[in-house]
This record gives sequence, structure tokens and C-alpha cells, in this order.
Amino acid sequence: MTDLHTHILPGMDDGSKDPAMSIRMLIAQREQGVGTVALTPHFYPDTESPDHFLKRRAAAWDTLRAAIDALPAEERDKLPRLSLGAEVAWAPRMSEWGRAEELCYSGTNLLMIELPFERWDVQLHRLLYDFMRSTGLEAVIAHIDRYFKIQTPSALKDLYALNLRTQISAEAFTRFSTRSHALKTVREGHAQLLISDCHNMTGRPPNLRPAMDIMEKKLGREVRGLFDYADELLEN
Ligand SMILES: [Fe+2]
Repeated sequence: MTDLHTHILPGMDDGSKDPAMSIRMLIAQREQGVGTVALTPHFYPDTESPDHFLKRRAAAWDTLRAAIDALPAEERDKLPRLSLGAEVAWAPRMSEWGRAEELCYSGTNLLMIELPFERWDVQLHRLLYDFMRSTGLEAVIAHIDRYFKIQTPSALKDLYALNLRTQISAEAFTRFSTRSHALKTVREGHAQLLISDCHNMTGRPPNLRPAMDIMEKKLGREVRGLFDYADELLEN
């Protein structure tokens, strides 16, 4: 399994506070059968430049790597493989940055985008489409379940019509109030990537396994294909 959305990189955002916490989160991921973890801190373009963010991310990565290298070999071997990325808050002028490709999942042209938490403007879908066309990047929509309540069914339908890759949070399955909508979304093929969006070991811990168990029970074992798809995305 691959988790494409985590806040494990230490000291970057409202996720892991320090390398020790990051390592605990990575061990929890491995124990749940996650073989690859993408480290995807928040990037808010209205408060930080891409250049500044990338420098901070490189420093946090060095700090985490040093802490992992200091572990005994047998513990180090228990950790998942790591990859870098970012959760990029949508900004209409993103195509003008010129560095958007550096925010993609490493080695890919896939950019995780967090859409606004307010009613989407009618222009949004077109701007998103234009952004991808002009940059050659492909958008991966972060946690679609977080928009279930805010957006109209037609706004969600218009987004799905763009044929983007869409993530759904494990929490949408473990929380009873959103479970049936989440299952329906997966069943209809509108979300292809299960993610933890983990921030810590308490309120928002790594949780792919319990969500996967619920999905398998409700949708059948074939649903595991979701995870194979996530694995392939980072390998290509
Ligand atoms: Fe997130």
C-alpha cells in the first residue's frame, strides 16, 4: 500500500512536531502494511513563495533523514519507503510560478491540489483545466470527502467530469456519518486513491488499515486495486 497524503515531515505545518513523532508515525504506517509514504506538507501560496517552501522542505527532509539514519539498522528496515510531495492550496495564478513541477510527487508530473473550502466558483473547473493544459501537470485532488458537505452535487459532478485523480480520506470510511457517501463515491469510480492525511498519533493518526478493512467488507476484496494504483503512480 502507498499513502499519498501525510503530514509526517517534521516542523513543516500542523502535522508532526519533531523527528521522533515522525518516526512513530512511520512505524504505525508500516505496521498497517503501508510500504511507501509520500511526505506532503501544506503549501499555502498566499503566505509563502514556492522557493521558500522548497528550502524549508529540503531542511525538514534532511532532519528526518538524519534521525532515521541514527536508528539501529533493524528499526530502520521496518520503516516504509519515503517520497516527497506537497499539498498545494489552489491559487488561480499557479501556472505563473514556473516552479509548480518541483511541488509534484518526486519523479512525476502529478501535483496534489487542495481546493478551496468554500463554494467553488463557476470558473474554478475551467481554471483548473487551463492550469493543467498550460503546465503539462496533472492534478491530484486532495481529500474529496472534505467537500461533500460544502459543494453542490453538480459542482462535484463537474469536477469528476475533468477525469482527474481524486483522493478520499480513510476517515471518511471510519466515521459513520460520511461512510455511505464515501463508499458510493468509490463505487462510482470518482475516487481512486485512499489516503490517511495523518497529522499526528492521536486525533489524526495513520489509519489506512481500518479504512481498508471497512472497504473490503462493504465493497469486496477487489477494492484493494485502489492501493495498487497508488503504488504505480509513484513508480512511474
Ligand atoms: Fe492534508
